[in-house]
Amino acid sequence: MIAVIGLGFVGLTTALGLADKTGQKVYGYDSNPLRRAELHDGQVPFYEPHLNEKLKEHMGNTFIIAENMKQAIINAELIFFCIGTPNDQEGRTELNPLLQAIDESINYTEDSAYKTFVIKSTVPPGTTENHIIPLIKSRGKRIGKDIGLANNPEFLREGMAWIDFIEPDRIVVGVSNGQSSLVLEKLYAHFSAPIYKVSFTNAEFIKYMSNSLLATMISFANEMSMLGSTFEHIDLKQAFHILKQDKRWTGSPAPMTSYVYPGSGFGGYCLPKDVSSLIHTAEEQGYMPTLLKEVVHVNDKVKSFIVAKVEQSVSKNERLGILGLAFKPESDDVRGSASRDIIERLLASGYHNIVAFDPMANLRFHESFNLPIAYAEQLQDLLEECDAVVVLTAWEQFRSVRSMTTNKRIIDGRYFLTE
Ligand SMILES: NC(=O)c1ccc[n+]([C@@H]2O[C@H](COP(=O)([O-])OP(=O)(O)OC[C@H]3O[C@@H](n4cnc5c(N)ncnc54)[C@H](O)[C@@H]3O)[C@@H](O)[C@H]2O)c1
Repeated sequence: MIAVIGLGFVGLTTALGLADKTGQKVYGYDSNPLRRAELHDGQVPFYEPHLNEKLKEHMGNTFIIAENMKQAIINAELIFFCIGTPNDQEGRTELNPLLQAIDESINYTEDSAYKTFVIKSTVPPGTTENHIIPLIKSRGKRIGKDIGLANNPEFLREGMAWIDFIEPDRIVVGVSNGQSSLVLEKLYAHFSAPIYKVSFTNAEFIKYMSNSLLATMISFANEMSMLGSTFEHIDLKQAFHILKQDKRWTGSPAPMTSYVYPGSGFGGYCLPKDVSSLIHTAEEQGYMPTLLKEVVHVNDKVKSFIVAKVEQSVSKNERLGILGLAFKPESDDVRGSASRDIIERLLASGYHNIVAFDPMANLRFHESFNLPIAYAEQLQDLLEECDAVVVLTAWEQFRSVRSMTTNKRIIDGRYFLTE
């Protein structure tokens, strides 16, 4: 049996979706009596396609509106918390309603009956570790022994809530023990989507990252519309339509995903040049392109971030290997290469014993920048002579460097090495 606490967009969709997909009995509870009454009468309190039909179909058999928290959860093995998490005026997430609901629900957990609490509300990274686990422990319950815990962010879109819930692209489950993970895997086996088991904090982070990316794309489009409107002869509708014909948006797997990948910053001939040029042009037009400026700022900041990572684990007199000089793999182009900026910052910071290797770009890099570093002929040569290695270009042949050496510290600046 399943309980869903909070019957807003997410909670009602979750409750009906789980009833529909699993055939299990789902008890839903909302603290708002008006909402409970409307649902009892078969009325969905907001417009969302399919929910009215599904409410009528499941109400009273697989979906029961509970009159109180106790009735909802007393016999449930899985309890989904779908409470709102609005921000206060400073942007801080108000966790109290969610924490209060969890606290109240603990009153109805018997020591003998194991229940898994599943947090579906969107919460800031660290919330489960720093607030929810301490709360449960303060009530004398042991995580994984008396109560199972999982963070299971929801990615549905309003207006498409039913389809998105029933046919998710991915299911993210933040867990810390095998039992909670098994319970959710069993439940979500009814859905044909890959299940990613991650830490609590990573699950929370993935949800925020997903929405932040969407917000950045919208702001990007809006910045372009505001900037574009400072020119005559720009047809924004047409420009956006043609922009989206790029097959990097449409392939399968969509190559656009390679742009949403952390690394050591974008480089090459075009991206740095064109973004800077557009900023300059915008300013000439009297438009301040704040988002684009931040894009460049972050691209610079991430290089110092990589240097700081090196500084944390490599001392200045050690031999430091740099893997990758070209701005991207399968290329010998070093124009705008992030490796150049990073090596220059490492030199400035006192690393004078640097050796670099790139499968194609050693010579071109040396001739272009003439930096006081050595070059290795082969990957193996570099690995033998260095104390530590930082990978800056994602060449396929670098992917397995961890297994090619036993005693070297390796900093994966591209987040792609196999462990
Ligand atoms: N709306 C979306 O598109 C969407 C998508 C993904 C994730 N989320 C996240 O899911 C969570 C819920 O969002 P929503 O849009 O469904 O919110 P909502 O405000 O529509 O619904 C929340 C419900 O929780 C009820 N509630 C509050 N305290 C309660 C308590 N102690 N016991 C029982 N019920 C209680 C409220 O009465 C309300 O009906 C939020 O964290 C949100 O960020 C929302």
